[in-house]
Amino acid sequence: MATETDAQRAVAVTEDSAERVHVPERSAPGADPEIVLREVPAAAAATEEVLVLDFGGQYSQLIARRIRECGVFSELLPHETSLARITERAPKALVLSGGPASVYADGAPDLRTELLDLGIPVLGICYGMQLMARELGGKVEQAPAGEFGRTQLSLRDGGGTLLDGLPAEQQCWMSHRDTVFEPPPGFDALASSPESPVAAFESRDRGLYGIQFHPEVVHTPHGTQVLTRFLRDIAGCRERWTPASVIDEQVDAIRSQVGEGRAICGLSGGVDSATAALLVHRAIGERLTCVFVDHGMMRKDEASQVIEAFRERLGVPLVHVDAADRFLDRLAGVDDPETKRKIIGEEFIRVFEEQAAEVGDAGYLVQGTLYSDVIESGGDGREAATIKSHHNVGGLPDEMEMELVEPLRTLFKDEVRAVAAELDLPDRFVWRQPFPGPGLAIRVVGGEVTRERLEILRSADAILQEEVRAAGLYRELWQSFCVLPVVRSVGVQGDERSYSYPIVIRAVTSDDAMTADWARLPYDLLERASNRIINEVPGVNRVTLDITSKPPGTIEWE
Ligand code: XMP
Repeated sequence: MATETDAQRAVAVTEDSAERVHVPERSAPGADPEIVLREVPAAAAATEEVLVLDFGGQYSQLIARRIRECGVFSELLPHETSLARITERAPKALVLSGGPASVYADGAPDLRTELLDLGIPVLGICYGMQLMARELGGKVEQAPAGEFGRTQLSLRDGGGTLLDGLPAEQQCWMSHRDTVFEPPPGFDALASSPESPVAAFESRDRGLYGIQFHPEVVHTPHGTQVLTRFLRDIAGCRERWTPASVIDEQVDAIRSQVGEGRAICGLSGGVDSATAALLVHRAIGERLTCVFVDHGMMRKDEASQVIEAFRERLGVPLVHVDAADRFLDRLAGVDDPETKRKIIGEEFIRVFEEQAAEVGDAGYLVQGTLYSDVIESGGDGREAATIKSHHNVGGLPDEMEMELVEPLRTLFKDEVRAVAAELDLPDRFVWRQPFPGPGLAIRVVGGEVTRERLEILRSADAILQEEVRAAGLYRELWQSFCVLPVVRSVGVQGDERSYSYPIVIRAVTSDDAMTADWARLPYDLLERASNRIINEVPGVNRVTLDITSKPPGTIEWE
């Protein structure tokens, strides 16, 4: 069991948890103006954290998530992150992720050996292990055959410290062709697999550990046990981190950032902006004003639910702007998807800007940026951050010069839901499926977005939601919704010929919307939804099911 070493103590804890950094230009969703925002505070440093250095692995994000699930705060940093930045965070341990390269390939990411001499335990996973082996004098070569997928792992001599207590034979998940043939001098080989003579190694003296398999994927049944062993017994992590532990920390950080200032927050109806708003409200109370811009392309009852929950139930000051007419007027005659997005983005900004002016001197803009957005936009977001253009709430033009408040930027979506529940956000918001900023407009496809079409789509969508919820599937699905293609087909309803719109049912499962699979909805659910939509929604005479995954499709039709 590891105790804190001198070198570990020497890695000083930085007190400057609200360190300010400059965020470069960000572009608003579908909108022209480039937004230049002032500084944002970096995330508060957790007392105990484990840093994952990303060498480009497919599962790097998942490693950080799994570590957090073990109760230890973890962040993903690019592998090139400077030594100074790493040591200033005073991590309890480092994890070197997998990566797509061969350690011998030209331009393959390198390992700075200083990272192995910080006096804190280091765990190399896959490529991370191979890098460690190569740098320290082991032998890494291409195996005669790769190991991709489920692989048999056989422990040697009880599995050493890292794998102690695991079954002598077990399944794990591998994804590699290069492998370690000999561990570096002074290291013990702990396990092997059919193509990996050294599938795990360790040097207890140096606190260095390597595994060829992926403990972070669910197909490695003992993966969590391996991570827990590393985090608790080897790295000595003791505190128990939970998503809810960010509440007090963020409330303090928001108070020190905003001081006596005022903030505004655009609520979209989704869980991210709602949770960000509640945190800020807890920190600064009535000095936060939420703005809910109803652009007329929301789902059924969405506006009234937001108003009821925030203004009436949670006591958060909320301005409700009914801007349906101005949005729909501007969308008249437009059917090109990008033009639609652009118009909606611009109009949103305009409305929001007007409201911000009414709030007066609001110097702060609250956004529900998540950790996955931060990672997607280039690392930990402190050296190079750009908000992805899908962001729900519109941006603001230069001259507003608002400072961003982003209390969720260290959290994954499921963690935000845990925080939301802790903050008493009603369940229907906590578990709300994602909904695009441009709303139903991007689900009326191939023709103009009219009030009539929106009404048809909204009614059909409400029926689908009801049926999905009644079947107990709402939370299992990433998204479930209807699309209205602007075409008409012939049907027979009663004794009459009809010539009406079809409705497409789209339901997908996904972890992060980067990839998605079409959901295998039960036939009886589909039948009920189809019957009800055709019988209850005038203007529809046909219901179809979209069975396209992403890729090659996208989740939305536009
Ligand atoms: P796609 O269609 O690209 O969608 O597979 C991935 C996720 O993003 C949502 N989405 C949007 N969200 N503004 C948003 O705020 C948009 O313009 C937009 N387009 C897609 C989509 O619903 C899914 O969750």
